[in-house]
Amino acid sequence: MKFFIDSANVQEIKKAVAMGMADGVTTNPTLVAKENGKPRDIYAAICECVDGPVSAEAVSLDSAGMIREARELAQIHRNIVVKIPICTEGLIAVRQLKEEGIRTNVTLVFNALQALASAKAGAAFVSPFVGRLDDVGEAGMELVEQIVTIYRNYELPTQVIVASVRSPMHVRDAALIGADIATIPYRVIEQLVRHPLTDSGVQTFLKDWEKVKSR
Ligand code: G3P
Repeated sequence: MKFFIDSANVQEIKKAVAMGMADGVTTNPTLVAKENGKPRDIYAAICECVDGPVSAEAVSLDSAGMIREARELAQIHRNIVVKIPICTEGLIAVRQLKEEGIRTNVTLVFNALQALASAKAGAAFVSPFVGRLDDVGEAGMELVEQIVTIYRNYELPTQVIVASVRSPMHVRDAALIGADIATIPYRVIEQLVRHPLTDSGVQTFLKDWEKVKSR
């Protein structure tokens, strides 16, 4: 299983890479808006930090605009993957970009048929948003199970990125289902490796070691 970090913050990304917890990066317009600088410079800086796919989102509403943006984004670095929202125009763009060798990540996916359509159009990645489904009372991880099953049924090569991750439980469940990737905010990456029994265990060992040191 791969972990991506869901962030446009270079400091966070560098830390996650140093921990071995970032095989790639996903961004979206909201995450980029939290950082200073031009989007192009932010994407370029991120690509310097990580040796893996970096998703940058197209914001046009028509396929011609998405394709134009995608071509520009792909010039920034060979690791750029263009995020395209699922819709008819988006699928047209995905299919054309696949022909041109530009990888896409179809985003804002909230049902299994959107994911199947994305794979048929030739998306390299698909991003079901589990947290946002949970927020409206639908089971986000059930969607991931459905997508993984459908892709396996037909041996579709599109990789599933579990996105909108809000807690370590989402990551554990994604791994149990066999999703290819979870994209995780830095806060949750830190939570993944913490346990109160680890903290108290370290404290006890340090205290007892003081006795050994004075021998
Ligand atoms: O990057 C897409 C996705 O992970 C957004 O998550 O927390 O805004 O629903 P969130």
